[in-house]
Amino acid sequence: MVDLELGGETPAEATDGVWLACVACGETVAPYDDVVYRCPDCDGLLEVRYDEYPTFDDFEGVGVWRYADALPLNEGVSIREGNTPLYTVPEIEADVDVADVRVKHEGMNPTGAFKDRGMTVGVKVAERLGVDRLACASTGNTSAALACYGARADTEVLVLLPAGKVAAGKVAQAALHGARILEVEGNFDACLDVVAELAARGEAYLLNSINPFRLEGQKTIGLEILEQSKRETGEWPDRIVLPVGNAGNTAALYKCFRELVEAGAMAEDEMPALTGVQAEGAAPMVEAVREGREEVRRWEEVETRATAIRIGNPVNAPKALPGVRATGGTAVAVSDDEITDAQRALARDGVGVEPASAASVAGLTKLRREGEIDDDEQVVCLTTGHLLKDPDAAAAAGGDTTPVPADADGVLDVL
Ligand code: F0G
Repeated sequence: MVDLELGGETPAEATDGVWLACVACGETVAPYDDVVYRCPDCDGLLEVRYDEYPTFDDFEGVGVWRYADALPLNEGVSIREGNTPLYTVPEIEADVDVADVRVKHEGMNPTGAFKDRGMTVGVKVAERLGVDRLACASTGNTSAALACYGARADTEVLVLLPAGKVAAGKVAQAALHGARILEVEGNFDACLDVVAELAARGEAYLLNSINPFRLEGQKTIGLEILEQSKRETGEWPDRIVLPVGNAGNTAALYKCFRELVEAGAMAEDEMPALTGVQAEGAAPMVEAVREGREEVRRWEEVETRATAIRIGNPVNAPKALPGVRATGGTAVAVSDDEITDAQRALARDGVGVEPASAASVAGLTKLRREGEIDDDEQVVCLTTGHLLKDPDAAAAAGGDTTPVPADADGVLDVL
């Protein structure tokens, strides 16, 4: 049984009105006494809980820390993350024939992906815990963000990457920000198994999305989408379509909505339908949603051009699956060619994204074609990473270059 009920008594373990609760058995844990990632009793996932949940009136300022009242700390290790644009995409909107389509482009964060929202919180918590080495497994973006925020916090960073399966821009970021980069003979899931064991042995502080503090920062994607949509369209979206890897964002968005419901700022039937998209070659969440299962079966073999979501064991599934269900959402798998088509469509509307991000638009297109999304819906697609993260994929999806001589007539001849 998963227990995602908020509210109730503040436990004795709370510090400043903040504590950790196991979503599997309800056990409560002090947030900053010891380093803890999972329930000490049953090994379930932990989530951060508060004695009070804010409403929209409580927020002020700009970016992730606008939402400090919804976060465990008042300030983070910050490089001005968040406050990303919510774009209109007129061509895509016309193509898919839906009332309103917008794109929340998380590629516009400091390191070019949504990960910064989690790291600004997580790296600050690490400081408070007094750890001296930060670590993650990564398909690329997490490692880039951790390297950057670790550098800012002047703390050692160790990243484990699946050898040969991480896009060039991401490795370059981790390298320049000074992370120790280890290339593992295995996929992302194997990397996470190894780094989780290192963390369990006390060798490093784990900043993958299994870390409950990171997901608190990622909740602010939801808060921004709701505020921006209300401001720009007068309404909250009916649906949020997002790429799924470890299902951290899916879990974080659902937590965002649950907290607003608990605060009385949102009715339960106003929660946007969480709609997850995976690549066909790495779709264990989709399988679980489609088969109505409570648990995800790990895929040992995964492959997709969208390397960011080349993941077979979505660790946050126990938090995310109930969110998909409770919000009336769904999940869908798309092919690599559908992902590339969507990447090109986004580019035509002026939005440059990496392949995994385009999965959201590919999913919208497919669900619309299959009649699972209605034409009167207001939809937000989440694009999670910037085009320049994966320059090879962008170049392959784009047009060819033409060699010309260095004179105007020669150029005009070719044109
Ligand atoms: N999109 C991009 C661009 C990502 O980098 C990731 C995850 C996701 C989507 C999936 O998000 O895990 O919340 O479902 N990247 C991780 C990494 C795994 O290591 O960079 P999720």
